[in-house]
Amino acid sequence: MKALIIYGTRYGTATGIAEEISKVLKEENVDVDLVNAREKKELDITSYDLVVVGSGIKMGKWTKATMNFLKKNKNALSKRKVVLFVTCGAANEEKTVAEGQEKYLDNIAKENLINEPIATGLFGSVYDPNAKQGLIFKLINRSIKKELEKQGKDPNKKHDYRNWDEIRAWTRNLTTE
Ligand SMILES: Cc1cc2nc3c(=O)[nH]c(=O)nc-3n(C[C@H](O)[C@H](O)[C@H](O)COP(=O)(O)O)c2cc1C
Repeated sequence: MKALIIYGTRYGTATGIAEEISKVLKEENVDVDLVNAREKKELDITSYDLVVVGSGIKMGKWTKATMNFLKKNKNALSKRKVVLFVTCGAANEEKTVAEGQEKYLDNIAKENLINEPIATGLFGSVYDPNAKQGLIFKLINRSIKKELEKQGKDPNKKHDYRNWDEIRAWTRNLTTE
């Protein structure tokens, strides 16, 4: 089996997830190409059996490069197994999971794919109180900080909401679909 993993990221969170998916698929004897969507604009996907497309979410949106990939390859994707994943703040809280699933995965699939994906993954994000990022990032961090305080967790520590066991188990399932 040959798989393409193509991802978009703004702060590096999706990169770690894409790398882990790649590692697990390789352990399952899948031949994997791992691509940052921004670095490869023209891709011939006809040799792949499985295409995993993923992105971080910013203001409700996938990255431009991953959206362009979905649009450009709409027909070719309809002939292969497609998997979508996102990393987003909505995945960190039970109360926002359903909304994240609908907005960032189900709607993206409906609007951009001809056939349904064989799987979707909604994965958590990383809270880093010391991250050197812009103003909006700081504002978002401030609201996460408040939520952590409410939950009695230490807001001065980094919190990685990516559940690696879940990500690995989800990936292993892809090879049996
Ligand atoms: C400026 C900004 C906007 C964001 N907007 C959303 C959003 O609309 N919905 C959401 O669930 N998470 C949102 N997040 C959280 C990100 O989706 C999360 O940090 C994700 O892991 C980022 O992935 P990346 O590092 O691969 O870009 C936002 C984060 C930032 C910094």
